[in-house]
Amino acid sequence: MIYLDNAATTFPKPDAVWDAMDRFARNDAGNPGRSGHRFATAAAAQVEGAREEVAQVIGAPDPSRVALCLNATDALSMVFHGVLHPGDHVVTSRMEHNSVVRPLNALARAGVITVDRVPNDAAGVVDPDALAALLRPTTRLVAMTWASNAFGTIQPVQAIARHAKAHGAMLLLDASQAVGSLPVDVAEVPVDLLAFPGHKGLLGPMGTGALWVREGVEVAPWREGGTGGDSTNPFQPDVLPHRLEGGTPNAHGLAGLRAGCRWVRERGVATIRAHEQALVARLLDGLGSIGGLTVHGSTNAEDRTGAVSFTLAGMDPHEVASILESAFGIAVRAGLHCAPEAHAALGTAPAGTVRASVGPFTTTADIDALVAALGALATVTTPPHSA
Ligand code: ALA
Repeated sequence: MIYLDNAATTFPKPDAVWDAMDRFARNDAGNPGRSGHRFATAAAAQVEGAREEVAQVIGAPDPSRVALCLNATDALSMVFHGVLHPGDHVVTSRMEHNSVVRPLNALARAGVITVDRVPNDAAGVVDPDALAALLRPTTRLVAMTWASNAFGTIQPVQAIARHAKAHGAMLLLDASQAVGSLPVDVAEVPVDLLAFPGHKGLLGPMGTGALWVREGVEVAPWREGGTGGDSTNPFQPDVLPHRLEGGTPNAHGLAGLRAGCRWVRERGVATIRAHEQALVARLLDGLGSIGGLTVHGSTNAEDRTGAVSFTLAGMDPHEVASILESAFGIAVRAGLHCAPEAHAALGTAPAGTVRASVGPFTTTADIDALVAALGALATVTTPPHSA
């Protein structure tokens, strides 16, 4: 199988990830911080090691500001339920994943918040000045994706951050498609809250993720429970990361995430980005020569992540994906990619698109195989010109 669905989850993972999980599961897997025996202290050290690795990848000076959680959805929901109060206004975009769309819609439907969505251009890029025009004195939060999961569009996060800061609003970035794949440094971009999964660009297993919280930013606990310490306290502890980490963590997964982050840092995000950008440029070039095929979003590899969305005239995206797998052994994702508003914004709703997404282990041969398969499909589906 040629795997081109890395925006859903990266595959394969480096061997070091599975080795670390296997070693941990067989030798050290007590409940971290809950007991005093060797297994529990070794597990606690494993979790803290993962926290430190994650902090290093995003340039966070203090690992205790990294709350480890289940996935990006978990991290995002922690923010929506932990910082918003009745009467707050939120600015977001039309390019968001349902992990942003649904909690905001639920809070708005319950009458807790009001929400405005900043418009975007034909490639899905939002206009930072249009965003600034939506900010009000009651705007507590700007919640935006760093890069669209559906179209690979990279947003002007630096300009967005400047506007949010100037208006006194907090900025939450959904970095699901960015961390590990694009240069992400919280010292460079004045973001307040950064949510991301462990199983995408960081190459860890599913069931891992993180929320980074800037010093001075308060997030009330959404998930409350045992933290292994301060047990006589009848409330969730005030200190991070325990404040946001109620319950036994996925320590097995975090052992893998730690190894994934180490792999990413050793390879270097700049090297990974250059590899993925070259593959996307090759893909865009190949797709451009196929009649009846439309690429949605930017046609410039520099403005994109490794995700490329396209449609083939006269064919449903799910049908294209199904044929790519059954006839050519190529795995892609089709449809709305859990981002229906983004598809509405770019005119590809309701059927959506076919999305091919590359990762650190994708090769030029994989790209050429996809282009050849789509070329063959387009030839079969495009009627010959009538004379
Ligand atoms: N959010 C993931 C995707 O874009 C699962 O496919």
